Amino acid sequence: MSEAGRSIGQALREGIDALRASSASARLDAELLLAEVLGVGRSHLFAFPERPVPTATIDAYRNLLTRRAAGEPAAYLLRRCEFRDLSLTVTPAVLVPRPETEHLVEQALACLPAGGSLLELGTGSGAVALAVASERPDARITATERSEAALAVARENRQRLGLTSVELIAGDWDEGVPAGPFQVIASNPPYVETTAPEWTNGGLGHEPREALAAGCDGLAAIRSLLAPAAEELARGGWLMLEHGAAQGEAVRGLFAAAGLEQVRTERDLAGLERLTLGRRP
Ligand SMILES: C[S@@+](CC[C@H](N)C(=O)[O-])C[C@H]1O[C@@H](n2cnc3c(N)ncnc32)[C@H](O)[C@@H]1O
Repeated sequence: MSEAGRSIGQALREGIDALRASSASARLDAELLLAEVLGVGRSHLFAFPERPVPTATIDAYRNLLTRRAAGEPAAYLLRRCEFRDLSLTVTPAVLVPRPETEHLVEQALACLPAGGSLLELGTGSGAVALAVASERPDARITATERSEAALAVARENRQRLGLTSVELIAGDWDEGVPAGPFQVIASNPPYVETTAPEWTNGGLGHEPREALAAGCDGLAAIRSLLAPAAEELARGGWLMLEHGAAQGEAVRGLFAAAGLEQVRTERDLAGLERLTLGRRP
């Protein structure tokens, strides 16, 4: 087949080769990008590898491959991301929701009593609040976000997913958090050190810095939200925060200093300390 008439199988191999050095998920990324420009599902690629890809489509695909190879997250290129059972719109205004954060949703679901209330701080795309709402229609869910641009994405997701009972509020936890009491307060706050190598080696440069950066030790956001959040917990309510793998001990200390009890840190699937919980007595 000529250069102008590449097959799906050839295009896929070209994409994998183009991304091999830069992406840990080169095959999946190439499949998603090719399916996107063809306007088909991924299964179509495996069912019809011999079918020709139009030249204009190959050009669009190569453009996306170049951007992905330069570090742009695939979710920004596709404008969507899967999170638990939800397909979320994501733009460069929001953090790309991570698989690790699904663990925060699982803990929130486990700690939320029937008919209970949950507050999420820093909702970004709305991933956590909307995932909980989709699985627990009995719960009253509020989420706040400081970035207006991010909040607009969360609102778009809320509308498209039909989860209109979720309350989305513009708010900065440095100026206070919504009045409780809440049975669960959950957050995946910024927790990356401003000196972390990921800022310069291409790992994080495409995502909003204000969603990730949290001072020299990565704990600035957690320090600032802990006390106001703990005050809005119901008696017996749980505060749960995602954090960096090396921050467990420090975060447990901050939870204890805020008067929370039964403080424990959960590990993620890679065995890393990732999520700390504490209960208001
Ligand atoms: C790590 S991102 C998490 C986004 C989303 N919850 C997720 O897990 O994909 C942190 C979010 O907190 C927001 N944020 C940072 N500081 C904040 C503050 N002081 N008040 C409210 N939101 C804040 C950021 O804009 C960002 O959307």
